[in-house]
Amino acid sequence: MMSDAFSPVSSRSGAADTQMKTVVILISGRGSNLLALLEAKLPGRISAVISDRGEAQGLAFAQARGVATAVIDHRRYTSREAFDAALTEEVEAHRADLVVLAGFMRILGDDFVRRFAGRLLNIHPSLLPMFPGLKPHAQALAAGVKIHGCTVHFVTPSLDAGPIVVQAAVPVHGDDDQKSLAARVLVQEHRIYPQAVRWFLEDRLRLSPDGRVVLQGEGPPAQPLIAPASA
Ligand code: GAR
Repeated sequence: MMSDAFSPVSSRSGAADTQMKTVVILISGRGSNLLALLEAKLPGRISAVISDRGEAQGLAFAQARGVATAVIDHRRYTSREAFDAALTEEVEAHRADLVVLAGFMRILGDDFVRRFAGRLLNIHPSLLPMFPGLKPHAQALAAGVKIHGCTVHFVTPSLDAGPIVVQAAVPVHGDDDQKSLAARVLVQEHRIYPQAVRWFLEDRLRLSPDGRVVLQGEGPPAQPLIAPASA
């Protein structure tokens, strides 16, 4: 069905309609993952960027590219349900085929998660299921792991526990602090998040009804990462 939210760039090739999917991105702050997505030349249309904080720096990246922005300020709502309802309305107004959480720091309620089940992605800066929740880099350093990383996953009602789509691993250096480790992981976030979104937009990635990730046409397995490497 044609939707008036689709831009004129929706492509037609020959007799077949190849309609681009629409993406809505939710942020709370800096917006570096948003920027990576905006610059990735994705085969879809980013129809809006929504923040729960008016001061989120990432909003400027969207505005500079002519992408619609909205702020649903969580401080204006007395309950999570009321916030989620307002957020749902805004997301639906942009006819999202896919909702992408890119540094969105509010926990979403079950109703929101269920409504967008199978079309709601998150990135978390750890190799889930290790180190969910807050301060994953501090958790990794405290645990003394030698390999850390980031995970793109479908969102389910359990925090940071949804089916895993793709992960990237980095070595932990002996002299790392949270800042240096976060920076190393962030470089990989900017690689794997556009990749996962691209897979979804190309209809290669989906969540099966039994909760498994289905990805068509996976590349060859990656090389092992051993850390520390032997001298
Ligand atoms: C990113 O590292 C992202 O993985 C993390 O917040 C940062 C946002 O940075 N998300 C979470 O911790 C979610 N639990 P960004 O605003 O520059 O993309």
